[in-house]
Amino acid sequence: MYDYYLGGRDNYEVDRHAAEEVLRFAPSTRVTALANRAFMRRAVRAVVGAGVRQIIDIGTGIPTSPNPHEIAREIDPAARVAFVDNDVIVATHADAKLAGESGTAFVHADLRDPRSILESPALRDLIDFGEPVALMLVAVLHFVEDAADPAGIVAALGEGLPSGSHLILSHVTADFHGGEQEIARRDDPGVGARKVYERTAAAVTLRDRNGVARFFEGWDLLEPGLVQASAWRPELEPEDAGHDAAEAEDGTFQDAPGAADAQDGAGIRAGFDDVAALYAGVARKP
Ligand SMILES: C[S@@+](CC[C@H](N)C(=O)[O-])C[C@H]1O[C@@H](n2cnc3c(N)ncnc32)[C@H](O)[C@@H]1O
Repeated sequence: MYDYYLGGRDNYEVDRHAAEEVLRFAPSTRVTALANRAFMRRAVRAVVGAGVRQIIDIGTGIPTSPNPHEIAREIDPAARVAFVDNDVIVATHADAKLAGESGTAFVHADLRDPRSILESPALRDLIDFGEPVALMLVAVLHFVEDAADPAGIVAALGEGLPSGSHLILSHVTADFHGGEQEIARRDDPGVGARKVYERTAAAVTLRDRNGVARFFEGWDLLEPGLVQASAWRPELEPEDAGHDAAEAEDGTFQDAPGAADAQDGAGIRAGFDDVAALYAGVARKP
């Protein structure tokens, strides 16, 4: 579904159908996906620019150019990146796209079992835990329900990383749409969109600012702190930055398929749809 929001071609009929349903309930989903991707590009540039040479990208998704290793290598051609995802389709695409790409590895593992990631031989061959690592949890923690202790998972992943490591994190929220109650009152997003996700394999847990801030405990948030994704160092986006397929050359977004349907009684109000529903932050391990 995410690949479809980004305008990619690596998606299936069943995903396209579900994604259209989400967009009908929550048209801001596509803007959110694009803002997330742009944040990811800026954060990787910032962290590799600060001297981090190795990345663990958990919940990496279907490879969508530019990938973190491509962005990192614009700054340091020797940067190493381990990609992790629990989805078989992502694994198949990643294997095909990363085959023969030295300095990368794909680990098919579940974030809810952090040891399986940290103890994976492929990851340990690539990543030197004696040097700072950038841990990426970009648009993935909202797929981990509270019962699975997401804060404990983030703490377990961060524990073995040396000082100077970085955490790059983004997470969907209802805060920029007035909170979950307001969303429900408008007869719109989160709620309806979440129902679609519940029918698919991936249930979503929206978290407010405090809920997302908990993930940064023990880390020092870098400026500008935990903010809406589009407000995280927008100046780091170069003029000629790579675009995702649904993003036009001038940086505006093309009409999302389904946007017209969304106006016809689904309760969507102008100004509500183009707001990225996403917190983002980057922190350094002291
Ligand atoms: C919305 S995509 C984000 C992709 C990429 N990080 C980005 O921001 O562009 C979420 C990805 O997280 C993966 N994912 C969801 N739950 C996961 C889990 N428990 N363990 C590992 N990966 C997971 C999904 O398979 C999907 O590829």
